[in-house]
Amino acid sequence: MNKITYGMVGGGPGAFIGDAHRKAIAIDSSAKLVAGCFSRTPEKCKAQGATLGISEDRCYGNYKEMAEKESVREDGIDFVVVVTPNNTHYEICKEFLLAGINVACDKPLTTTKEEAEELESIAKEKGLLFMVTYTYTGHLTMKYMRDLVREGKIGKVRTVMAEYPQGWLYDENSNGGKQGEWRCDPAQSGRVNCLGDLGTHVENAVATITGLKVKRVLAKMDVVVPGRKLDDNDQILVEYEGGATGVNWTSQFAIGCDNSLRVRVYGSKGTLLWFQEQPEEVIYIGEDGIRQSIKRGYGNITPGAAKYGRLPSGHTEGWLEAMGNLYRSFTECIEAKNNGTFTEDMIDYPTIEQGVDGLKYVEACLKSNDNGNIWVEL
Ligand SMILES: NC(=O)c1ccc[n+]([C@@H]2O[C@H](COP(=O)([O-])OP(=O)(O)OC[C@H]3O[C@@H](n4cnc5c(N)ncnc54)[C@H](O)[C@@H]3O)[C@@H](O)[C@H]2O)c1
Repeated sequence: MNKITYGMVGGGPGAFIGDAHRKAIAIDSSAKLVAGCFSRTPEKCKAQGATLGISEDRCYGNYKEMAEKESVREDGIDFVVVVTPNNTHYEICKEFLLAGINVACDKPLTTTKEEAEELESIAKEKGLLFMVTYTYTGHLTMKYMRDLVREGKIGKVRTVMAEYPQGWLYDENSNGGKQGEWRCDPAQSGRVNCLGDLGTHVENAVATITGLKVKRVLAKMDVVVPGRKLDDNDQILVEYEGGATGVNWTSQFAIGCDNSLRVRVYGSKGTLLWFQEQPEEVIYIGEDGIRQSIKRGYGNITPGAAKYGRLPSGHTEGWLEAMGNLYRSFTECIEAKNNGTFTEDMIDYPTIEQGVDGLKYVEACLKSNDNGNIWVEL
């Protein structure tokens, strides 16, 4: 039996990411799903709970009831997974934190910086663990690049080119179904669509690989597809603390692009290239110009990254495994907390601080764009 148990808010019938979280957690049997409020519609919640084998008394009519009841049960959940549309993250996460329950929430953490900072201070005050599931940071190749940069393999980072184009919302006659509908609706998505959905991944991927913090941004955020109310193409000039620079591009109408997150890091002694659609490969180019394709399985990858591999090299691991890696670290930390053996250096998942950084980035970009594309400090 799993020692750690969890509940889920969101992830009802037909939902996208909730199902991926459940599958990712199941890869390592990191935790057992025992409770949920999978939908705002009680019948859908019960139906989903029955499919997932959750007992009826732990399928809740709303998240408030779930937080309240789970917090007083002797066998209450160790953590909650929040996988609802963006505008609900703040209120749901807050409820569970106040009830003393650890939280894993999908990105973007909230729709405003103030809300994100409030959640951060409640989590700190209560001594609770909070993960923001920036899935891509779970790839062991990304952890490996982080180690290479820390070791000085490419010298001082000078500039970073990063992009995340998608093409699924290119068509003005289609709203992208259930998932596209709320993303394009200011009432459910907040003040940004593309930048919150994809831009926060870009900001976080660059920060994870390079350790750089954004100092200031100059943003051009466009609404291009007719009928849209929120941004669907964003080009951001970035200056990092310490002087490095970069360009971040995100789009939802780039026909032919699916989840084309790409990061290119240029340093004083070399270059690193990483493309999420070939996530098992890191390209390293040193001062001699020789291009090396580095993969796991040959003893090349740093131990802190290699430990996340599950299969012999050549048997592909991908996006679900990356999400599973985040949960591996998160549940290890919760277990250690429960046993009194937890130390901060055990954390190898994106924390609430990174969630807050995402919102600082979004708000600075909005301010820049709203004021005629000026430089704005974070
Ligand atoms: N990490 C990633 O790579 C990644 C990828 C996709 C989506 N996301 C994030 O995941 C979140 C969900 O996105 P999605 O695409 O799965 O959306 P979705 O529309 O497919 O699913 C949302 C689910 O939440 C439920 N829901 C809404 N409000 C609720 C409430 N108050 N209580 C209970 N259930 C409620 C809906 O019924 C639905 O089942 C978003 O914040 C999104 O940004 C992250």
